[in-house]
Amino acid sequence: MKNFYLTTAIDYANGSPHLGHAYEKVLSDVIARFRRMMGDRVYFLTGLDEHGQKVQQSARKAGVAPLEFCDQQAAKFADLCRLLNISNDDYIRTTQPRHVKVVREILQSLFDKGEIYKAEYKGFYSARQEQFLQEKDKVDGKWPEIFGEVAEISESNYFFKLQKYQGWLVDYINSHEDFIYPRFRAKQVIEFLKEPLNDLCISRPKERLEWGIELPFDSGYVTYVWFDALVNYISAVGYGTERFSENWPADFHVIGKDILVPPHSVYWPIMLKAIGIDLPKSLLVHGWWLSSGEKMSKSLGNIVNPLDLAEKFGADPFRYFLMREMNVGQDSDFSLDLFVTRYNSDLGNDLGNLVSRLLNMGHRYAAGKVPAASIEEDFEKQLKAAAAKTAEESIALFEGMQFHIALEKIFNFVRSVNRYAEQRAPWKLAKSGNEGDLRTLETTLANMAEALRIASVLLAPVMPEISKKILLLVGSQEAGSFEGLAWGNSLEGKPFGEKVILFPRGDDVK
Ligand code: ME8
Ligand code: MG
Repeated sequence: MKNFYLTTAIDYANGSPHLGHAYEKVLSDVIARFRRMMGDRVYFLTGLDEHGQKVQQSARKAGVAPLEFCDQQAAKFADLCRLLNISNDDYIRTTQPRHVKVVREILQSLFDKGEIYKAEYKGFYSARQEQFLQEKDKVDGKWPEIFGEVAEISESNYFFKLQKYQGWLVDYINSHEDFIYPRFRAKQVIEFLKEPLNDLCISRPKERLEWGIELPFDSGYVTYVWFDALVNYISAVGYGTERFSENWPADFHVIGKDILVPPHSVYWPIMLKAIGIDLPKSLLVHGWWLSSGEKMSKSLGNIVNPLDLAEKFGADPFRYFLMREMNVGQDSDFSLDLFVTRYNSDLGNDLGNLVSRLLNMGHRYAAGKVPAASIEEDFEKQLKAAAAKTAEESIALFEGMQFHIALEKIFNFVRSVNRYAEQRAPWKLAKSGNEGDLRTLETTLANMAEALRIASVLLAPVMPEISKKILLLVGSQEAGSFEGLAWGNSLEGKPFGEKVILFPRGDDVK
């Protein structure tokens, strides 16, 4: 059986981790954990994009060698993965020999096949921005101030033949509905492909850029950073070895909308086609976290750094918030108020209170053990029906990437368990002391425990640690799969854990 192979974009080493990186890793991790629970063998890759102009500049500014700079950055991104409890199986860095080797092999083979050619490039060049410019970069017929002095230069470079694949790519995208998710993003790609493609300049002369992978057929040049970075998806899983087919084709490349066109939807498919490798099954394109309408990609000065929330509240509440608020594919506004509200109401009031209520009563009325459920009336029937419906719907929603709705349903179910407790009111039943009331009380506690068990299994991909904690508190064990989601009585006689506060109130954060 082929592994379910899932990748994230590899983060630029020149910047520091931010909410966008955190979200992409959490989203991918939730998918990875979900697939594992569905019984798939998963290979989950993330990593760091370390070459290019900006990294060279940042290293220079920091007064260290580029690789040393990248080592420091890699440590920060590794911390982010730890902080968020990301279950990646591999971490690729584009400076690793396993990657460099594959990039060079691919370049050589494309060069040998005539897919890469050398040509003179004439154009306007801004030395200050170290960038080629086009007529359209002019404003009112003049080069904007930021470019400094603009000179017309000519330079020899190597080009990859994109254009000859343009028709093929359009057909491919039109005939593969699943290739780009959500589907509306494919329109953007098709729109882009209405204009004739230019061949891709895949080299940079060393006088301009040293920090990159040297071309195997011309030591005067390094490889353009996007051509290098995209190859990580195959170099990490042993392209060119037997192992490769265990993972490739990738099931999902998870990326943000800013890097769909052209790198992932044009360069990458054409590169693979030209090399003779199958395309990934799907690009999962998420939207942006915004702050007052602007893309969040730096820490925001005086405002709280969203990543601090994961430090303060733990990974799971932070993961819950990201998955609950974002409709995959759309943008979403980040706000601290929203985080605190979700935390206090969904997690604290609804889930946390349910757990502490149950533990309290379990110790007080049932000698610390999950009692037997011996009656079934309308309230019980409704609760069981809600559990079955929630399980079925939320798994289907997870499968369809509708995580925010899946979580809404699971929390509706949690609220319905609280309502059930109020309808039955075990604290009243305990006072009467009659036999029938006692059985109802015991049934209520047993059903609350069972309902919590089911909710916790469903929450495991999003909140793995909280899920585990609750499962242990009701006498169950960590959720390894979605098997055993059906209502049962496996908890009967199991000890309740000691009372804990799972979500201490978070008002003081502001
Ligand atoms: O693009 N909200 O790296 P990167 C959501 N190295 N996602 C965001 C975001 C935001 N505010 N800001 C950034 C690169 N992202 C390349 C990728 S892949 C072969 C090379 C996402 O560090 C962004 O869309 O700039 C991308 O998917 C990821 O973070 C890394 O961005
Ligand atoms: Mg970026």
